[in-house]
Amino acid sequence: MKVHVYEKFWMGTAVAIIAAFAAAVVLTAYGMGIHPPSHVETIDPATVESDPRFAHRGVGVERGRTVVTMVLRMWSFDPAELSVPAGVPVTFRLTSPDVIHGFEIVGTNVNAMVVPGYVSQVTTTFPRAGDYLIVCHEYCGVGHHLMQAAIKVAGGGS
Ligand code: CUA
Repeated sequence: MKVHVYEKFWMGTAVAIIAAFAAAVVLTAYGMGIHPPSHVETIDPATVESDPRFAHRGVGVERGRTVVTMVLRMWSFDPAELSVPAGVPVTFRLTSPDVIHGFEIVGTNVNAMVVPGYVSQVTTTFPRAGDYLIVCHEYCGVGHHLMQAAIKVAGGGS
């Protein structure tokens, strides 16, 4: 079988591109710790209100790390106002007792789906102090457009 030289060239190029994409996934996942928000930890949506993991909502410190615990429900974030430090990793732990909600912190790379039955976890570092807006970006009913919260990031320079 004779394969034309241009055909060989483009087959080789296609293989190289696929290899580069696969390498990018592996490097960012294992080297930089970039991966989708966890859908590993489960929770019974009917008992979110009494679950000890969500008993204390808001900003806390666990093993020296800043952890924000929030419940998203139709149509509010609980709590709806937060204050966290700049320049340190902040881990958000989120769940929903009713329907699927979204969790996006505008102007950052935080963007998660919050699915009933699961705990979504995402970690970010706010580089600058300032006021950030959290919005729900999954349509969750007639009050969807009202669903928002505010984060005040303090310290860490300007
Ligand atoms: Cu919650 Cu849209």
